[in-house]
Amino acid sequence: MAAYTWIDHTFDVVVVGAGGSGLRAALGCAQAGLKTACVTKVFPTRSHTVAAQGGISASLGNMGEDKWQWHMFDTVKGSDWLGDQDAIEYLTRNAPAAVYELEHWGVPFSRTEEGKIYQRAFGGMTRNYGEAPVQRTCAAADRTGHAMLHTMYGQSLRHSVDFFIEYFALDLIMENGVCRGVTAWKLDDGSLHRFRAQRVVLATGGYGRAYLSCTSAHTCTGDGGAMVLRAGLPLQDMEFVQFHPTGIFPAGCLITEGARGEGGYLTNSNGERFMERYAPTVKDLAPRDMVSRAMTLEIREGRGVGPNKDHINLHLDHLDPKVLHQRLPGISESAKIFAGVDVTRQPIPVLPTVHYNMGGIPTNYHGEVLTKANGDPDSIVPGLMAVGEAACVSVHGANRLGSNSLIDLVVFGRAVGLRCGEALKANASQADLPKTAGDDHLARFDRFRNANGGTPTARLRDKMQRTMQETCAVYRTGPVLEEGVQRMAQVWAEAPDVKITDRTMVWNTDLVETLEFDNLMAQAIVTVTGAANRTESRGAHAREDFPERDDEHWMKHTLAWLDMKSGQATIDYRPVHSYTMTNEIEPIPPKKRVY
Ligand code: FUM
Repeated sequence: MAAYTWIDHTFDVVVVGAGGSGLRAALGCAQAGLKTACVTKVFPTRSHTVAAQGGISASLGNMGEDKWQWHMFDTVKGSDWLGDQDAIEYLTRNAPAAVYELEHWGVPFSRTEEGKIYQRAFGGMTRNYGEAPVQRTCAAADRTGHAMLHTMYGQSLRHSVDFFIEYFALDLIMENGVCRGVTAWKLDDGSLHRFRAQRVVLATGGYGRAYLSCTSAHTCTGDGGAMVLRAGLPLQDMEFVQFHPTGIFPAGCLITEGARGEGGYLTNSNGERFMERYAPTVKDLAPRDMVSRAMTLEIREGRGVGPNKDHINLHLDHLDPKVLHQRLPGISESAKIFAGVDVTRQPIPVLPTVHYNMGGIPTNYHGEVLTKANGDPDSIVPGLMAVGEAACVSVHGANRLGSNSLIDLVVFGRAVGLRCGEALKANASQADLPKTAGDDHLARFDRFRNANGGTPTARLRDKMQRTMQETCAVYRTGPVLEEGVQRMAQVWAEAPDVKITDRTMVWNTDLVETLEFDNLMAQAIVTVTGAANRTESRGAHAREDFPERDDEHWMKHTLAWLDMKSGQATIDYRPVHSYTMTNEIEPIPPKKRVY
């Protein structure tokens, strides 16, 4: 488009996103000698990984016996048998090495008396195939993500990753089904950039902000997932949205599951520790989907606390204040600021809050993006990779276990670096991009920049968020989900009436929020459509009208494409990998989940 000019760059690898997975992938590519760029919307240490509190899982066995095979069993069971077992084997086998690597790079983990990495209990993590809770989650107090992010940013600089900071990625440059690069808008000077690369790695995080109440940063708008949909590729298992049991009521900020790992417990208005009824073996350390459902039921049945009986109490007041100070300083402060509570004396008011997207861009365990083409459900999209919450490997299946996200970031970030190192030649010559590359990206950008309708972005966003919160929540039913699909179609139809007041190119937050809203909309539609389509209950997808898991019909991944003109989703499926990566371990056969 004549009104805009591109600044062109060429790299071997361009990573989009500088959270835990983006930094680990960029670092790995740079270590492999590849010319690597990291393009990021926010300063790297402000990426949402910074908010990860409780820890990173790995079977180090520092606090009692542990084995990667137990970790694998727990992850498969936690996923409600929707996780791919080859990828889960890869994750859990490689987890200890990935954590030691972080330690050697300088992550300031909390320590045991003997100086080993401290590990705490987390939901669904057990010893000996479900016998009792195990302490598997490695922690840096309750600021583990913060510690990891700062360390990996330092290491990335040391290995000469080229950072493009506060660049908003617009779209993928696709040529004949091959990803050739990505475009971005530099927020602080308004310039536009075209990055050509042998590989583009999307590490753009989740899309929690499609909901009204979530623990995610305002930046969590799933920009990479939306780029994939606009490129005509599918997203996978989007109906599986995790509600974290302990968002502070009503603000929604996170109180780490580590609080229960350190001995905290939930009570209802009778003062009853109700999790004993729902999960007799592991109680408050059941997986998140189960705890969120139990809390929702307690509230529904009139046993919520507070004047409106609309939340639950989390007790830490019985714990030694020294433990709170040492192990949970961050959440003690959050509880004070956001709920006015002194955790040494009062319970914290909590409510399940959107926290994580199990679904995302389908990949194999090397981080290569997959699509279903010519009947092949594992068809690789050349040039495109994805990692972290943006991706769906799928190790979390229908429900992620707490602390399996941070380990996913670094294990698969490392896998991307290894794959790029094997597959790419540094500084290999790359064909010229087509002359028109990025024209359609500019057309979309320009349309929003000059949007002059009657509805502010904030109003449209609020409608989308309320629709998702009200229709696609912890418990779901067919009619309410159908209402969600219709209401989202209405928001889609109203979206062309969007109004932007700022037309400038520099720090135009009005335009940023509108591009982000457009990204969220695409993913919200495939989420609610996928949820209406899946007529069973599995993990975080709890259908009251279909309360049982139905392996015969539904042990399969949903793939969803979005028609960008009509806003209609199309659904197809991929088989779950119910086989392991090596012959050293047998696949774990499906069973009813009991804790
Ligand atoms: O509760 C938490 O600290 C969150 C951890 C996670 O989502 O893995």
